[in-house]
Amino acid sequence: MKCQHCRKKAIIKSPRLCEDHFPEYFERKIGKFLDKFKIKNKKILVSISGGKDSVVVSYVLSKLKEKYNLQIEYFFIDLGIPIFSEKSKEISLEVTKKLNNELIIYNLEKEDGFTIMDIKYKPCSYCGMIRRYILNKYAYENNFDYVVLGHNLDDEVFFLFNNMFNKNISQLQRTGPLTLTIKEKKLIGRIKPLYFLTEEEILLYAKLNSLPYIGCACPNSLKSTQRKFKTNIEFSRDQKLNIVYTILEVKKYLPEEKVELKFCQNCGYPTTSDTCKFCKTKERLRR
Ligand code: FES
Ligand code: ZN
Ligand code: ZN
Repeated sequence: MKCQHCRKKAIIKSPRLCEDHFPEYFERKIGKFLDKFKIKNKKILVSISGGKDSVVVSYVLSKLKEKYNLQIEYFFIDLGIPIFSEKSKEISLEVTKKLNNELIIYNLEKEDGFTIMDIKYKPCSYCGMIRRYILNKYAYENNFDYVVLGHNLDDEVFFLFNNMFNKNISQLQRTGPLTLTIKEKKLIGRIKPLYFLTEEEILLYAKLNSLPYIGCACPNSLKSTQRKFKTNIEFSRDQKLNIVYTILEVKKYLPEEKVELKFCQNCGYPTTSDTCKFCKTKERLRR
């Protein structure tokens, strides 16, 4: 199998590229993402967890930062998962050092008085909410334009199917590569530069660039639906891309989600009820 651009051996089937052309294509795709969503002259906060996605996105953005005049900071949340959080922190430190950058470390236990392990029932289902809250708050208080997340195409396909399995139409409205920043609502937008790249492509890019990353998933997520879904369903790259393109198109015809945002009576950050989920969780664990 030969590369579609030269006579060298292809190292990946879809797209069919060799070891020289693949990294070029990968970085160009992220550059196109930045162009498309006008991510230029921005101050961005990269959420790094030590996993392959956040490591790869950190590395590529750092390569593109001059071209796009980006001011980048890297942020790690220590959730207090024994061994796993330590290992993830070590890798995030190693990566940011390689990129000649500081790593901002947020320790959940020190800052908020609990760890994710204090949540006894399905801690992973709280993880996203906790991360989103902390990242948004830090980004808002420090004047960032966007928070960068490492979600990839496979994550997005899972998200879409999972919501369809549960007939959760309003959640489909929330999918997409970017959410907007609305400073008056204390909401900092999120961008997902790996949105159109598969897990296979990301792993290959990490390997070709000898990037360190934590090879195992969160130990609390061993029985997660996402993991079962990923091991049971095989789609090609084109099928995955077509699934997200279709939903992004369909989204335009879905009625606007009418959620009334208030400010949490406790912390002052956006919520749909009087007290936000983060404050509720913190209070419940304190008791
Ligand atoms: Fe974060 Fe499991 S606790 S993914
Ligand atoms: Zn080639
Ligand atoms: Zn709150």
